[in-house]
Amino acid sequence: MSVSVLVGSQWGDEGKGKIVDILGERFDIVARYQGGANAGHTIVIEDQQFILHLIPSGILRDGIKCVIGNGVVIDPQALLDEIDFLQKHGFNFNDRLFISHNAHIIMPYHKVIDSINESGDNKVGSTGRGIGPCYIDKFDRKGIRVVDLLDKVELERKIRRNVAEKNEILKKIYNKEELDVEVILKDYLAFGNLIAQYITDVPTFLNNAINDGKSILMEGAQGALLDIDHGTYPFVTSSSPTSGGACSGVGVPPTKISSVFGIVKSYTTRVGLGPFPTELLGEEGDELRKWGAEFGATTGRPRRCGWYDAFLLKYSRMINGIERVAITKLDVLSNLDEIKVCIAYELDGKTLEAFPTTVNQLERIKPIYKILPGWKTDISHIRKYEDLPIETKNYLSFISEHSGFEISIISVGPKRSQTIEL
Ligand code: GDP
Ligand code: IMO
Ligand code: MG
Repeated sequence: MSVSVLVGSQWGDEGKGKIVDILGERFDIVARYQGGANAGHTIVIEDQQFILHLIPSGILRDGIKCVIGNGVVIDPQALLDEIDFLQKHGFNFNDRLFISHNAHIIMPYHKVIDSINESGDNKVGSTGRGIGPCYIDKFDRKGIRVVDLLDKVELERKIRRNVAEKNEILKKIYNKEELDVEVILKDYLAFGNLIAQYITDVPTFLNNAINDGKSILMEGAQGALLDIDHGTYPFVTSSSPTSGGACSGVGVPPTKISSVFGIVKSYTTRVGLGPFPTELLGEEGDELRKWGAEFGATTGRPRRCGWYDAFLLKYSRMINGIERVAITKLDVLSNLDEIKVCIAYELDGKTLEAFPTTVNQLERIKPIYKILPGWKTDISHIRKYEDLPIETKNYLSFISEHSGFEISIISVGPKRSQTIEL
């Protein structure tokens, strides 16, 4: 039995899609446990690039079953577009996609409220996909769930109730146009018919699979520092990307989890607002963005870039229970004469013992760097660890030692083949 959780260990976009696709081959089932279409997971097969937002990255491997757990918030139109896109590229969905009846549904008013929030003082730089407002309704016990799509009478009652309430808010508080409930009703009744075939009791499905000896890979979206509880609040997403979120996000108990695997970019990026101690502003950051093609897979926004932060990774390892990691995008560092690694934080002249998650502290800390020599040579064609330059090996040993994890995969390019396994 093997149930592994794969987590983004920084601020998202670490290369989870690529590594799920690589590891997926060894699993029977891949399950998403949180987030929604704010995620953009990229997989490159030959020269074809696929960006997945809701469907687990295992779908591109024949025979792997894919599950969307209750912890995910689903935009039905985004889901249907993704199914359609993948089917057009020859991927089959027969007995392969299972969607939790308890997952919550993103409604048009969630996206409108998300964009209104982004225009005010509480802006966090969200992806605009309605994620935060949908989770608010879930926790406020007003949400509409996948199972509601199957009961037309209940669905109509809930949609009319919610749209009436949101229209009041839109009109009276924000002075915005009201939404047309009849259009929403028509669209969501239609979604129900199209999605019905995939709706599943996911906890029963997954626990039966475990009892039958099947292996499961839980695919996290976002990253540990975007976690609603453990991230750099309020500049976070509204779900629990950390490994703890996996159990509640699909209905598999902690006693069944056998390992936690971290995905770690060999430098740091973040999209949207919020503190970023090792950020490189100016030309150096621009160059890293150019070399790493660091533009959002969902929104196309330029990602902020900076040095590897081993102090942050130690914290991420602690809260996730990460044992082994895949280091991605190592090839991107190949042009640098020198590479900096942050090994500690100083605040008011004192070295910190623990990673601070409060914005106020993070904005005032001074990162302490160790400078390592670069390797100044293309490594994207290398397939064996032994063939890496000595400076690259030293960089890997250094970050592994200072972050406290073992490296078992090294990625040197976006393609499946550009991977070194240790
Ligand atoms: P995710 O959200 O964690 O799945 O990551 P994204 O797909 O948003 O961003 C990662 C980007 O880096 C994608 O464009 C990948 O194709 C690309 N990528 C993944 N691994 C590597 C690598 O080792 N080297 C390079 N150069 N690109 C990579
Ligand atoms: P993947 O799975 C990077 C960021 C947004 C914003 C904050 C809140 O591809 O790694 P939200 O729309 O979730 O309310 O936005 O979180 N964010 C991500 N950043 N990768 C992601 O997903 C992200 N999903 C959300 O930029 O700062
Ligand atoms: Mg991404």
